[in-house]
Amino acid sequence: MKFIVLNGTTKNIKQHSMNLAKIERIKNAFPEIEFKIYRISNEINKIAANESYFLDILSDIKNADAVIWSTPVYIGLIPSELKRFIELTFDRDFQHYFANKPAVVILSSIKLYDTVAIDYMREICEDLNMRYCGHFSAGMVEPVDLKFIKNFIADVNNNFEHPRETLPIKKSDYIFKSSDVESIKYKKLSSSKKVLVISDKLNGKPLDGFTDFLKKICPDTMEHYDLNDLDIKCGCISCFECGLENRCSIKDGFVPFYKNRVMRADVIIYLGTQKDRFLSWKWKQFLDRRFFSNHIPTLIGKQLLCIVSGNRIDGRTIFNYFEMYSQLERANFCGAVFDDAKDDQAVAEMIYKSVKRSLELSELEYAGNETYLYEGARAYLNESLEHYIYSGLYADYRYYKKHNFKRLSFAQKIGKSIILNLYELKTVREYVFYDKQCSAIKMKVIDLILGIAYRLRGRAY
Ligand SMILES: Cc1cc2nc3c(=O)[nH]c(=O)nc-3n(C[C@H](O)[C@H](O)[C@H](O)COP(=O)(O)O)c2cc1C
Repeated sequence: MKFIVLNGTTKNIKQHSMNLAKIERIKNAFPEIEFKIYRISNEINKIAANESYFLDILSDIKNADAVIWSTPVYIGLIPSELKRFIELTFDRDFQHYFANKPAVVILSSIKLYDTVAIDYMREICEDLNMRYCGHFSAGMVEPVDLKFIKNFIADVNNNFEHPRETLPIKKSDYIFKSSDVESIKYKKLSSSKKVLVISDKLNGKPLDGFTDFLKKICPDTMEHYDLNDLDIKCGCISCFECGLENRCSIKDGFVPFYKNRVMRADVIIYLGTQKDRFLSWKWKQFLDRRFFSNHIPTLIGKQLLCIVSGNRIDGRTIFNYFEMYSQLERANFCGAVFDDAKDDQAVAEMIYKSVKRSLELSELEYAGNETYLYEGARAYLNESLEHYIYSGLYADYRYYKKHNFKRLSFAQKIGKSIILNLYELKTVREYVFYDKQCSAIKMKVIDLILGIAYRLRGRAY
Protein backbone atom coordinates (compact mmCIF):
# COMPACT_ATOMS: atom_id res chain seq x y z
CA MET A 1 0.00 0.00 0.00
CA LYS A 2 1.18 3.50 -0.74
CA PHE A 3 0.02 6.57 1.16
CA ILE A 4 0.75 10.13 0.09
CA VAL A 5 1.10 12.64 2.89
CA LEU A 6 0.31 16.24 1.96
CA ASN A 7 1.86 18.17 4.81
CA GLY A 8 1.11 21.80 5.58
CA THR A 9 3.72 22.85 8.14
CA THR A 10 5.40 26.16 7.35
CA LYS A 11 8.29 25.36 9.67
CA ASN A 12 11.61 24.88 7.90
CA ILE A 13 13.43 21.57 7.77
CA LYS A 14 15.56 22.42 10.83
CA GLN A 15 12.56 23.06 13.06
CA HIS A 16 10.59 20.34 14.79
CA SER A 17 7.24 19.87 13.10
CA MET A 18 4.57 18.46 15.37
CA ASN A 19 2.66 17.17 12.34
CA LEU A 20 5.62 15.38 10.86
CA ALA A 21 6.50 13.86 14.24
CA LYS A 22 3.02 12.31 14.29
CA ILE A 23 3.45 11.01 10.75
CA GLU A 24 6.86 9.55 11.66
CA ARG A 25 5.26 7.58 14.49
CA ILE A 26 2.57 6.27 12.14
CA LYS A 27 5.25 5.29 9.62
CA ASN A 28 7.13 3.30 12.25
CA ALA A 29 3.97 1.55 13.40
CA PHE A 30 2.97 0.46 9.88
CA PRO A 31 6.19 -0.58 8.10
CA GLU A 32 4.17 -2.48 5.51
CA ILE A 33 2.86 0.81 4.13
CA GLU A 34 4.99 3.04 1.94
CA PHE A 35 4.61 6.68 2.92
CA LYS A 36 5.64 9.50 0.62
CA ILE A 37 5.64 12.90 2.24
CA TYR A 38 5.33 16.22 0.41
CA ARG A 39 6.06 19.35 2.43
CA ILE A 40 3.52 21.32 0.43
CA SER A 41 3.72 24.63 2.31
CA ASN A 42 7.52 24.70 2.15
CA GLU A 43 7.45 24.04 -1.58
CA ILE A 44 4.46 26.10 -2.59
CA ASN A 45 6.36 28.63 -4.69
CA LYS A 46 8.03 25.85 -6.64
CA ILE A 47 4.68 24.09 -7.10
CA ALA A 48 3.02 27.29 -8.35
CA ALA A 49 5.86 28.15 -10.73
CA ASN A 50 6.81 24.72 -11.99
CA GLU A 51 3.83 22.89 -13.45
CA SER A 52 5.74 19.71 -14.20
CA TYR A 53 6.67 19.42 -10.50
CA PHE A 54 3.04 20.03 -9.56
CA LEU A 55 2.00 17.28 -12.00
CA ASP A 56 4.58 14.90 -10.49
CA ILE A 57 2.90 15.31 -7.11
CA LEU A 58 -0.53 14.90 -8.63
CA SER A 59 0.44 11.71 -10.50
CA ASP A 60 1.82 10.33 -7.26
CA ILE A 61 -1.55 11.03 -5.67
CA LYS A 62 -3.36 9.35 -8.55
CA ASN A 63 -1.21 6.24 -8.28
CA ALA A 64 -1.37 5.99 -4.48
CA ASP A 65 -3.86 3.99 -2.45
CA ALA A 66 -4.75 6.86 -0.13
CA VAL A 67 -3.98 10.41 0.93
CA ILE A 68 -3.31 11.86 4.39
CA TRP A 69 -3.73 15.60 4.74
CA SER A 70 -1.42 16.45 7.63
CA THR A 71 -1.70 20.03 8.68
CA PRO A 72 -1.42 22.49 11.54
CA VAL A 73 -4.41 24.67 12.37
CA TYR A 74 -3.58 28.30 11.61
CA ILE A 75 -6.08 30.84 12.91
CA GLY A 76 -8.95 28.39 12.70
CA LEU A 77 -8.11 27.06 9.25
CA ILE A 78 -5.15 25.57 7.36
CA PRO A 79 -1.99 27.59 6.53
CA SER A 80 -2.29 29.87 3.51
CA GLU A 81 0.36 27.88 1.62
CA LEU A 82 -1.57 24.61 1.79
CA LYS A 83 -4.71 26.52 0.86
CA ARG A 84 -2.90 27.87 -2.20
CA PHE A 85 -2.09 24.30 -3.25
CA ILE A 86 -5.82 23.49 -3.10
CA GLU A 87 -6.66 26.64 -5.06
CA LEU A 88 -4.08 25.81 -7.73
CA THR A 89 -5.69 22.39 -8.09
CA PHE A 90 -9.11 23.88 -8.74
CA ASP A 91 -7.86 26.82 -10.83
CA ARG A 92 -6.01 24.45 -13.18
CA ASP A 93 -8.80 21.88 -13.23
CA PHE A 94 -6.66 19.16 -11.70
CA GLN A 95 -9.36 17.79 -9.38
CA HIS A 96 -9.50 14.49 -11.28
CA TYR A 97 -6.12 13.48 -9.83
CA PHE A 98 -7.79 13.25 -6.42
CA ALA A 99 -11.03 11.59 -7.52
CA ASN A 100 -12.07 8.50 -5.53
CA LYS A 101 -8.91 8.57 -3.45
CA PRO A 102 -9.56 7.64 0.20
CA ALA A 103 -8.49 10.51 2.45
CA VAL A 104 -8.18 11.42 6.11
CA VAL A 105 -7.25 14.69 7.74
CA ILE A 106 -4.76 14.69 10.61
CA LEU A 107 -4.38 17.97 12.43
CA SER A 108 -1.90 19.15 14.99
CA SER A 109 -2.80 22.20 17.04
CA ILE A 110 -3.74 23.32 20.52
CA LYS A 111 -7.31 22.43 19.43
CA LEU A 112 -8.45 26.02 19.46
CA TYR A 113 -11.16 26.33 16.81
CA ASP A 114 -9.87 23.16 15.16
CA THR A 115 -13.47 22.26 14.28
CA VAL A 116 -13.67 25.07 11.71
CA ALA A 117 -10.57 23.70 9.97
CA ILE A 118 -11.95 20.15 10.11
CA ASP A 119 -15.24 21.17 8.48
CA TYR A 120 -13.34 23.06 5.81
CA MET A 121 -11.04 20.15 4.97
CA ARG A 122 -13.99 17.83 4.75
CA GLU A 123 -15.64 20.20 2.27
CA ILE A 124 -12.43 20.25 0.23
CA CYS A 125 -12.21 16.44 0.17
CA GLU A 126 -15.82 16.30 -0.99
CA ASP A 127 -15.24 18.94 -3.67
CA LEU A 128 -12.25 16.95 -4.92
CA ASN A 129 -14.49 13.86 -5.01
CA MET A 130 -12.19 12.07 -2.61
CA ARG A 131 -13.54 9.32 -0.39
CA TYR A 132 -13.46 11.13 2.93
CA CYS A 133 -12.79 8.74 5.81
CA GLY A 134 -12.59 11.06 8.82
CA HIS A 135 -10.23 13.25 10.80
CA PHE A 136 -8.02 13.07 13.85
CA SER A 137 -7.34 16.31 15.68
CA ALA A 138 -4.30 15.84 17.91
CA GLY A 139 -2.86 18.22 20.47
CA MET A 140 0.66 19.42 19.76
CA VAL A 141 2.34 16.65 21.74
CA GLU A 142 -0.50 14.14 21.49
CA PRO A 143 0.16 11.21 19.17
CA VAL A 144 -2.42 10.04 16.68
CA ASP A 145 -4.32 7.04 18.01
CA LEU A 146 -3.04 4.15 15.91
CA LYS A 147 -6.53 2.61 15.94
CA PHE A 148 -7.58 5.55 13.77
CA ILE A 149 -4.98 4.53 11.18
CA LYS A 150 -5.96 0.85 11.43
CA ASN A 151 -9.53 1.88 10.80
CA PHE A 152 -8.42 4.01 7.85
CA ILE A 153 -6.60 1.04 6.32
CA ALA A 154 -9.81 -0.98 6.71
CA ASP A 155 -11.76 1.86 5.09
CA VAL A 156 -9.33 1.86 2.15
CA ASN A 157 -9.74 -1.90 1.75
CA ASN A 158 -13.51 -1.73 2.12
CA ASN A 159 -14.02 1.22 -0.23
CA PHE A 160 -15.69 3.12 2.59
CA GLU A 161 -16.55 6.79 2.52
CA HIS A 162 -18.58 9.03 4.80
CA PRO A 163 -21.85 10.24 3.31
CA ARG A 164 -21.38 13.71 1.84
CA GLU A 165 -22.17 16.71 4.04
CA THR A 166 -22.14 19.28 1.29
CA LEU A 167 -23.64 19.82 -2.12
CA PRO A 168 -21.14 20.25 -4.95
CA ILE A 169 -19.85 23.83 -5.09
CA LYS A 170 -21.35 26.02 -7.80
CA LYS A 171 -19.19 28.28 -9.95
CA SER A 172 -20.50 31.77 -10.55
CA ASP A 173 -19.37 34.03 -13.38
CA TYR A 174 -21.36 37.03 -12.17
CA ILE A 175 -19.37 40.23 -11.73
CA PHE A 176 -20.92 43.08 -9.78
CA LYS A 177 -20.86 46.37 -11.68
CA SER A 178 -21.60 49.54 -9.78
CA SER A 179 -22.00 51.63 -12.94
CA ASP A 180 -25.41 50.04 -13.50
CA VAL A 181 -26.61 50.93 -10.02
CA GLU A 182 -29.11 53.79 -9.68
CA SER A 183 -26.70 56.07 -7.90
CA ILE A 184 -29.21 58.73 -6.76
CA LYS A 185 -30.62 56.15 -4.39
CA TYR A 186 -27.35 55.79 -2.50
CA LYS A 187 -26.12 58.94 -0.83
CA LYS A 188 -22.72 59.15 0.82
CA LEU A 189 -23.08 57.98 4.41
CA SER A 190 -21.98 60.55 6.88
CA SER A 191 -20.00 59.48 9.92
CA SER A 192 -16.76 60.37 11.61
CA LYS A 193 -15.98 56.66 12.05
CA LYS A 194 -12.98 55.37 10.16
CA VAL A 195 -13.82 52.77 7.52
CA LEU A 196 -11.09 50.50 6.25
CA VAL A 197 -11.64 48.35 3.16
CA ILE A 198 -9.13 45.59 2.38
CA SER A 199 -9.42 43.62 -0.85
CA ASP A 200 -7.63 40.94 -2.85
CA LYS A 201 -7.90 41.98 -6.47
CA LEU A 202 -5.63 39.28 -7.91
CA ASN A 203 -7.05 36.02 -6.64
CA GLY A 204 -10.56 35.78 -7.98
CA LYS A 205 -12.92 37.99 -9.89
CA PRO A 206 -12.41 41.72 -10.53
CA LEU A 207 -13.58 43.66 -7.50
CA ASP A 208 -13.63 47.17 -9.01
CA GLY A 209 -17.43 47.27 -8.95
CA PHE A 210 -17.38 46.76 -5.19
CA THR A 211 -14.56 49.18 -4.47
CA ASP A 212 -16.11 51.91 -6.67
CA PHE A 213 -19.47 51.48 -4.97
CA LEU A 214 -17.89 51.52 -1.49
CA LYS A 215 -16.01 54.72 -2.38
CA LYS A 216 -19.33 56.24 -3.43
CA ILE A 217 -21.25 55.39 -0.26
CA CYS A 218 -18.66 55.32 2.54
CA PRO A 219 -17.81 58.42 4.55
CA ASP A 220 -14.78 60.46 3.44
CA THR A 221 -12.78 58.75 6.16
CA MET A 222 -12.73 55.55 4.11
CA GLU A 223 -9.37 54.08 3.18
CA HIS A 224 -8.89 51.23 0.75
CA TYR A 225 -5.89 48.93 0.51
CA ASP A 226 -5.36 45.88 -1.62
CA LEU A 227 -3.41 42.98 -0.15
CA ASN A 228 -1.37 42.71 -3.34
CA ASP A 229 -0.10 46.27 -3.03
CA LEU A 230 1.04 45.83 0.56
CA ASP A 231 4.54 44.80 1.50
CA ILE A 232 3.71 41.28 2.73
CA LYS A 233 6.64 38.98 1.93
CA CYS A 234 5.19 35.63 2.96
CA GLY A 235 2.86 33.82 5.33
CA CYS A 236 3.63 32.96 8.95
CA ILE A 237 6.78 30.83 9.20
CA SER A 238 5.86 29.49 12.65
CA CYS A 239 9.12 30.62 14.28
CA PHE A 240 7.21 31.59 17.45
CA GLU A 241 9.48 34.56 18.05
CA CYS A 242 6.29 36.51 18.68
CA GLY A 243 5.65 34.38 21.78
CA LEU A 244 7.86 36.52 23.98
CA GLU A 245 6.84 40.07 23.16
CA ASN A 246 4.55 39.85 20.14
CA ARG A 247 7.35 40.87 17.77
CA CYS A 248 7.23 39.34 14.29
CA SER A 249 10.55 38.08 12.92
CA ILE A 250 9.54 38.75 9.31
CA LYS A 251 10.76 42.17 8.34
CA ASP A 252 8.15 43.51 5.96
CA GLY A 253 5.26 45.96 6.02
CA PHE A 254 2.65 43.68 7.57
CA VAL A 255 2.88 44.56 11.26
CA PRO A 256 3.12 48.35 10.69
CA PHE A 257 0.10 48.16 8.36
CA TYR A 258 -1.83 46.05 10.82
CA LYS A 259 -1.06 48.25 13.80
CA ASN A 260 -1.45 51.61 12.06
CA ARG A 261 -4.35 50.90 9.76
CA VAL A 262 -6.32 47.82 10.78
CA MET A 263 -6.13 48.32 14.53
CA ARG A 264 -7.02 52.01 14.24
CA ALA A 265 -10.11 51.60 12.08
CA ASP A 266 -13.66 51.52 13.46
CA VAL A 267 -15.38 49.59 10.68
CA ILE A 268 -13.34 47.01 8.80
CA ILE A 269 -14.55 45.57 5.51
CA TYR A 270 -12.90 42.43 4.14
CA LEU A 271 -13.62 42.13 0.43
CA GLY A 272 -12.78 39.16 -1.76
CA THR A 273 -13.83 36.34 -4.03
CA GLN A 274 -14.86 33.01 -2.61
CA LYS A 275 -12.08 30.60 -3.53
CA ASP A 276 -13.04 26.99 -2.91
CA ARG A 277 -14.90 27.18 0.43
CA PHE A 278 -13.21 30.27 1.85
CA LEU A 279 -11.61 33.50 0.68
CA SER A 280 -8.32 33.35 -1.23
CA TRP A 281 -4.97 32.07 0.04
CA LYS A 282 -3.82 35.69 -0.07
CA TRP A 283 -6.53 36.53 2.44
CA LYS A 284 -5.49 33.57 4.55
CA GLN A 285 -1.90 34.78 4.44
CA PHE A 286 -3.06 38.09 5.90
CA LEU A 287 -5.05 36.28 8.58
CA ASP A 288 -2.13 33.96 9.44
CA ARG A 289 0.26 36.85 9.88
CA ARG A 290 -2.06 38.24 12.50
CA PHE A 291 -0.61 35.52 14.73
CA PHE A 292 2.15 37.94 15.82
CA SER A 293 -0.36 38.93 18.49
CA ASN A 294 -0.87 35.26 19.42
CA HIS A 295 -4.11 34.92 21.39
CA ILE A 296 -4.34 38.55 22.42
CA PRO A 297 -7.34 40.17 20.72
CA THR A 298 -6.46 42.96 18.30
CA LEU A 299 -9.82 44.30 17.13
CA ILE A 300 -11.68 44.96 20.37
CA GLY A 301 -14.97 46.79 19.82
CA LYS A 302 -14.57 47.10 16.05
CA GLN A 303 -17.22 46.23 13.47
CA LEU A 304 -16.26 43.61 10.92
CA LEU A 305 -18.15 43.19 7.67
CA CYS A 306 -17.31 40.75 4.88
CA ILE A 307 -18.26 41.28 1.26
CA VAL A 308 -17.82 38.17 -0.81
CA SER A 309 -18.27 37.50 -4.48
CA GLY A 310 -19.64 33.98 -4.31
CA ASN A 311 -22.50 31.75 -3.28
CA ARG A 312 -23.91 31.97 0.22
CA ILE A 313 -25.03 28.36 -0.02
CA ASP A 314 -21.39 27.27 -0.28
CA GLY A 315 -20.36 29.69 2.44
CA ARG A 316 -20.67 27.59 5.60
CA THR A 317 -16.96 27.92 6.36
CA ILE A 318 -16.97 31.65 5.64
CA PHE A 319 -19.83 32.29 8.09
CA ASN A 320 -18.40 29.96 10.74
CA TYR A 321 -14.92 31.31 10.29
CA PHE A 322 -15.70 34.99 10.62
CA GLU A 323 -18.00 34.45 13.59
CA MET A 324 -15.16 32.58 15.28
CA TYR A 325 -12.50 35.08 14.17
CA SER A 326 -14.55 38.05 15.38
CA GLN A 327 -14.90 36.52 18.80
CA LEU A 328 -11.19 35.69 18.92
CA GLU A 329 -10.47 39.34 18.07
CA ARG A 330 -13.37 40.60 20.23
CA ALA A 331 -14.85 42.44 17.26
CA ASN A 332 -18.52 42.50 16.34
CA PHE A 333 -19.27 40.44 13.24
CA CYS A 334 -21.72 42.42 11.11
CA GLY A 335 -22.21 39.54 8.68
CA ALA A 336 -21.14 38.48 5.23
CA VAL A 337 -22.80 39.92 2.13
CA PHE A 338 -22.62 37.62 -0.91
CA ASP A 339 -23.39 38.70 -4.47
CA ASP A 340 -25.37 35.56 -5.32
CA ALA A 341 -28.49 37.61 -6.07
CA LYS A 342 -26.61 38.21 -9.37
CA ASP A 343 -28.41 41.49 -9.75
CA ASP A 344 -26.41 44.72 -9.43
CA GLN A 345 -29.28 46.65 -7.85
CA ALA A 346 -30.01 43.97 -5.24
CA VAL A 347 -26.34 43.49 -4.38
CA ALA A 348 -25.82 47.27 -4.06
CA GLU A 349 -28.84 47.49 -1.75
CA MET A 350 -27.48 44.76 0.53
CA ILE A 351 -24.04 46.33 0.69
CA TYR A 352 -25.45 49.79 1.36
CA LYS A 353 -27.68 48.58 4.19
CA SER A 354 -24.90 46.52 5.76
CA VAL A 355 -22.34 49.32 5.65
CA LYS A 356 -24.90 51.79 7.07
CA ARG A 357 -25.73 49.38 9.88
CA SER A 358 -22.05 48.73 10.65
CA LEU A 359 -21.50 52.48 10.99
CA GLU A 360 -24.54 52.77 13.26
CA LEU A 361 -23.26 49.94 15.44
CA SER A 362 -19.91 51.66 15.60
CA GLU A 363 -21.56 54.97 16.65
CA LEU A 364 -23.36 52.99 19.36
CA GLU A 365 -20.02 51.50 20.38
CA TYR A 366 -21.67 48.10 20.32
CA ALA A 367 -18.97 45.53 21.05
CA GLY A 368 -20.86 42.38 20.10
CA ASN A 369 -22.13 39.47 22.08
CA GLU A 370 -19.78 36.77 23.28
CA THR A 371 -20.94 33.20 22.91
CA TYR A 372 -19.24 29.92 23.67
CA LEU A 373 -16.81 30.70 20.84
CA TYR A 374 -15.29 33.35 23.08
CA GLU A 375 -16.13 32.07 26.56
CA GLY A 376 -14.97 28.54 25.74
CA ALA A 377 -11.72 29.79 24.24
CA ARG A 378 -11.12 32.16 27.14
CA ALA A 379 -11.68 29.47 29.77
CA TYR A 380 -9.51 27.03 27.83
CA LEU A 381 -6.70 29.52 27.32
CA ASN A 382 -6.88 30.56 30.97
CA GLU A 383 -6.36 27.00 32.06
CA SER A 384 -3.72 26.16 29.50
CA LEU A 385 -1.70 29.32 29.95
CA GLU A 386 -1.86 29.17 33.71
CA HIS A 387 -0.64 25.58 33.85
CA TYR A 388 1.43 24.89 30.75
CA ILE A 389 2.71 27.84 28.76
CA TYR A 390 2.37 26.57 25.20
CA SER A 391 5.54 26.91 23.13
CA GLY A 392 6.72 29.92 25.06
CA LEU A 393 3.61 32.05 24.70
CA TYR A 394 4.82 34.41 27.42
CA ALA A 395 3.11 37.49 25.99
CA ASP A 396 -0.19 35.58 26.10
CA TYR A 397 0.53 34.51 29.66
CA ARG A 398 1.13 38.06 30.83
CA TYR A 399 -2.00 39.31 29.07
CA TYR A 400 -4.28 36.56 30.36
CA LYS A 401 -2.89 36.85 33.87
CA LYS A 402 -3.72 40.55 33.87
CA HIS A 403 -7.11 40.42 32.16
CA ASN A 404 -8.58 36.98 32.48
CA PHE A 405 -7.26 34.62 35.10
CA LYS A 406 -10.00 34.26 37.66
CA ARG A 407 -8.45 34.25 41.12
CA LEU A 408 -10.76 33.85 44.08
CA SER A 409 -10.38 36.20 47.00
CA PHE A 410 -10.31 34.81 50.53
CA ALA A 411 -14.01 35.70 51.04
CA GLN A 412 -14.93 34.03 47.71
CA LYS A 413 -13.04 30.88 48.73
CA ILE A 414 -14.97 30.73 52.05
CA GLY A 415 -18.28 31.27 50.22
CA LYS A 416 -17.49 28.58 47.65
CA SER A 417 -16.45 26.10 50.33
CA ILE A 418 -19.64 26.66 52.35
CA ILE A 419 -21.81 26.17 49.24
CA LEU A 420 -20.02 22.97 48.18
CA ASN A 421 -20.18 21.48 51.69
CA LEU A 422 -23.81 22.42 52.27
CA TYR A 423 -24.93 20.75 49.04
CA GLU A 424 -23.36 17.51 50.27
CA LEU A 425 -26.38 17.31 52.63
CA LYS A 426 -29.42 15.59 51.16
CA THR A 427 -31.90 17.79 53.09
CA VAL A 428 -30.33 20.91 51.64
CA ARG A 429 -30.37 19.56 48.05
CA GLU A 430 -34.00 18.44 48.37
CA TYR A 431 -35.06 21.77 49.84
CA VAL A 432 -33.18 23.91 47.28
CA PHE A 433 -33.67 21.92 44.09
CA TYR A 434 -37.01 20.17 44.68
CA ASP A 435 -38.76 22.61 47.03
CA LYS A 436 -39.15 19.77 49.55
CA GLN A 437 -40.23 21.19 52.87
CA CYS A 438 -38.37 20.50 56.11
CA SER A 439 -38.80 22.07 59.53
CA ALA A 440 -39.26 25.85 59.55
CA ILE A 441 -36.10 26.36 61.62
CA LYS A 442 -34.02 24.18 59.26
CA MET A 443 -35.31 26.12 56.25
CA LYS A 444 -34.45 29.45 57.87
CA VAL A 445 -30.94 28.27 58.77
CA ILE A 446 -30.32 26.93 55.21
CA ASP A 447 -31.62 30.18 53.65
CA LEU A 448 -29.44 32.26 55.93
CA ILE A 449 -26.22 30.31 55.45
CA LEU A 450 -26.65 29.91 51.69
CA GLY A 451 -27.57 33.60 51.40
CA ILE A 452 -24.36 34.63 53.16
CA ALA A 453 -22.27 32.09 51.21
CA TYR A 454 -23.58 33.23 47.81
CA ARG A 455 -22.97 36.84 48.76
CA LEU A 456 -19.38 36.03 49.72
CA ARG A 457 -18.73 34.00 46.59
CA GLY A 458 -20.21 36.56 44.23
CA ARG A 459 -21.86 35.86 40.90
CA ALA A 460 -20.27 33.20 38.72
CA TYR A 461 -21.29 35.05 35.55
C1 LIG B 1 0.19 31.31 12.51
C2 LIG B 1 -0.26 30.29 13.51
C3 LIG B 1 -1.59 30.22 13.82
C4 LIG B 1 -2.04 29.24 14.71
N1 LIG B 1 -3.39 29.17 14.96
C5 LIG B 1 -3.85 28.17 15.72
C6 LIG B 1 -5.25 28.04 15.94
O1 LIG B 1 -6.08 28.82 15.45
N2 LIG B 1 -5.68 27.02 16.70
C7 LIG B 1 -4.83 26.14 17.27
O2 LIG B 1 -5.29 25.24 17.95
N3 LIG B 1 -3.48 26.23 17.09
C8 LIG B 1 -2.99 27.21 16.32
N4 LIG B 1 -1.64 27.32 16.10
C9 LIG B 1 -0.74 26.29 16.65
C10 LIG B 1 -0.35 25.23 15.62
O3 LIG B 1 -1.48 24.64 15.06
C11 LIG B 1 0.52 24.16 16.28
O4 LIG B 1 1.65 24.78 16.75
C12 LIG B 1 0.85 23.01 15.36
O5 LIG B 1 1.11 21.88 16.12
C13 LIG B 1 2.08 23.29 14.51
O6 LIG B 1 2.35 22.17 13.69
P1 LIG B 1 3.77 22.01 13.01
O7 LIG B 1 4.77 21.96 14.13
O8 LIG B 1 3.71 20.73 12.26
O9 LIG B 1 3.96 23.18 12.12
C14 LIG B 1 -1.14 28.32 15.28
C15 LIG B 1 0.23 28.42 15.00
C16 LIG B 1 0.67 29.39 14.12
C17 LIG B 1 2.14 29.49 13.82
